[in-house]
Amino acid sequence: MDLGFLRSQLIETWRLPYPSDSYAGRTIVITGSNTGLGREAARHYARLGASRLILAVRHVDKGEEAKRDIQTTAAEGVSIEVWEVDMASYASVKAFAARVDAELDRVDIFHANAGVARMVFALAEGSESSVTVNYLSTFLLVDLVLPKLKATAARFRVRPTLVVTSSGVHRHTAFPQRNEPDVLAALNDQGYAGGRHWSEQYPISKLLGIFAVRSIAKEHPADAYPVTINLVSPGFCHSGLSREAKGMQRVAFAVQKALLARSTERGSWTLLHAGLQGPESHGQYLEDARIVQPSDVVTRNPDLQDRLWADLKAKLEAIHPGVTANF
Ligand SMILES: NC(=O)c1ccc[n+]([C@@H]2O[C@H](COP(=O)([O-])OP(=O)(O)OC[C@H]3O[C@@H](n4cnc5c(N)ncnc54)[C@H](OP(=O)(O)O)[C@@H]3O)[C@@H](O)[C@H]2O)c1
Repeated sequence: MDLGFLRSQLIETWRLPYPSDSYAGRTIVITGSNTGLGREAARHYARLGASRLILAVRHVDKGEEAKRDIQTTAAEGVSIEVWEVDMASYASVKAFAARVDAELDRVDIFHANAGVARMVFALAEGSESSVTVNYLSTFLLVDLVLPKLKATAARFRVRPTLVVTSSGVHRHTAFPQRNEPDVLAALNDQGYAGGRHWSEQYPISKLLGIFAVRSIAKEHPADAYPVTINLVSPGFCHSGLSREAKGMQRVAFAVQKALLARSTERGSWTLLHAGLQGPESHGQYLEDARIVQPSDVVTRNPDLQDRLWADLKAKLEAIHPGVTANF
């Protein structure tokens, strides 16, 4: 456990800015908002008067329960809708994005927040499921909703923000598969290097997202792009993320959380902070409500970043031909 992490959890937690801006007139979409950080962020947006709030969830009944709860503290006139999206299914991601395109006249802030930390190996859409949900589907969704954010910018003369929820645990891996000719194939191999790195799959899935956002910003710098795309690490927070942990691992998580974790509610403040940031945050990684450098694996490997970007674009094209033109 490094000192930076302890400082963040024990000191910076108490310096995070409490959300207080008005969101009147804005439409906000949050994936993974039936529970955890997404739900608490949605609660703040509703309290602060967002005009239209879309809770994008994989189980509509859970989303409806969250909606009822959030409505109890919402400002008057806030419209809250529950829309289905399953990030483990490309068809569901495409259907959800088509609905965003057809039914929303604007999107001011989009939180690509849904995520999983799988403790067991499983495939979704032919890839290891945390890679599918946290990386491939997340960037398929980002790509598919970007035209709506660009149209919002042109029509309403605003600069929408697309925030990808990242994680400080991206620092907990040296990403050993990075030298493989086919990185995605290596990530599908649970037995890679004798299975020694399987526990790094979640950190790697988050690391890949940082590379992707930096690549988008490299290809489309802020001054020539109408949308800000950034990443936020909410810090180590209480939530359901470690729900699959069992035995000693479960005990270890519980002890660490009791000693160090931010409340879910306080962690959610970082999502709102990221959503308010402008072009200076485009392609950047935010932690403790400021831009910081991600791990050396990211900053010292520009060639790897380019290679992963080419692989990701090829994958997205295979899923939905023509889609990468949206970037
Ligand atoms: N908690 C932390 O310490 C921490 C730290 C850094 C980053 N994060 C990131 O924060 C984000 C939110 O996580 P959380 O901590 O709030 O955990 P959480 O309480 O487990 O919430 C995760 C959310 O993502 C949704 N989700 C999972 N798989 C999905 C799928 N296939 N399709 C659609 N939605 C799906 C979940 O829906 P269900 O309820 O239906 O499963 C839930 O709404 C994640 O991206 C996570 O990686 C969390």
